[in-house]
Amino acid sequence: MTAMDIGIDLGTATVLIYVKDKGIVLEEPSVVAVNHRSEKILSVGSEAYNMVGKTPAYISAVRPLKEGIVCDYRVTEAMIQHFIRKVCDDKLIKPRIALCVPSGITDVESNAVMDVAVAAGARKVFLIEEPVAAAIGAGIDLSKANGNMIVDIGGGTTDIAVLSLNGIVNKKSIKIAGDVFSETIIRYIRSSFGVLIGERMADQLKREIGSVSYEEDKTAVAKGRNLENGLPCAIEVKRSMLYEPLRKEAMQIVSAVREVIEKTPPELVGDLSENGIVLTGGGSLLDGMDRLLSAETKISTRVAENPVQCVAIGTGRSFDYMDTLMDGFLTPSMKKF
Ligand SMILES: Nc1ncnc2c1ncn2[C@@H]1O[C@H](COP(=O)(O)OP(=O)(O)O)[C@@H](O)[C@H]1O
Ligand SMILES: [Mg+2]
Repeated sequence: MTAMDIGIDLGTATVLIYVKDKGIVLEEPSVVAVNHRSEKILSVGSEAYNMVGKTPAYISAVRPLKEGIVCDYRVTEAMIQHFIRKVCDDKLIKPRIALCVPSGITDVESNAVMDVAVAAGARKVFLIEEPVAAAIGAGIDLSKANGNMIVDIGGGTTDIAVLSLNGIVNKKSIKIAGDVFSETIIRYIRSSFGVLIGERMADQLKREIGSVSYEEDKTAVAKGRNLENGLPCAIEVKRSMLYEPLRKEAMQIVSAVREVIEKTPPELVGDLSENGIVLTGGGSLLDGMDRLLSAETKISTRVAENPVQCVAIGTGRSFDYMDTLMDGFLTPSMKKF
């Protein structure tokens, strides 16, 4: 029997677990349903996501890592524990776990997350920086003195980094990402149609017709509540209507990318224009994001293969690069072992 090496991408929107030789074994929303009367945790992951916006007042479906910070430690702990147990059930040999945590997380919170992983049965825990994991997952060779730019657009944050020689040269994180695009759609529909739509409806519209650079118009039906009479209603929304508000937010990502490029040493900027920018994270699937970045930075931009799973794949594979990648690992948790 061999020991298990597991990579966990603890995202603000999605938690993914990668196991060596098996690939992605778990992909679930980072949502927990809590009963506030009894303080009990009712469900975790996909089951909890299905409750979003549909719970009675005393039950709430929360995203414990929203905006890249641990806003409720107890709930976060329960969530991580639930997912690790789901994957490592009944294993005699304790796994080594590489964890990728949201960039806004503090040291105290990172340590807390590592403790949870240990409590859930890990033999050893490593924390890996997200851009490093994303680069490995996207198949970029980090061992060379060659600059690469990774832009990870997740749910809560967009993380921009320039990497070279196994380390991070320059980085920036902003709180404009997938969630903001959805919130923008909710706001637009409320102010233009007087209709209130839910978070999941907005997410669906974003995927179906959202675009920040398009040629053809498209239409989708949005269902929500008419704010005037309080009754349910369905409206037709066009891609062209959402374009301006979405693009305005996307331009903030463009500005942040430009800022990182401006602060990058000239030799590495030369590499960037040769290697291009690689986009990862679910938010990079917003239609036109790659084209917008290409046009605005004059650097060719591509979405990585498997953008949503990229960070988890890289986190799981990081065990193969353990010796050379120490710069990219924030902390191996020494204190417990
Ligand atoms: N096809 C798509 N088009 C636009 N946005 C998408 C698409 N697929 C996923 N997303 C968005 O990506 C975000 C989640 O990305 P993810 O990388 O899973 O985030 P995190 O790493 O923070 O968990 C969500 O806001 C989701 O709505
Ligand atoms: Mg992520």
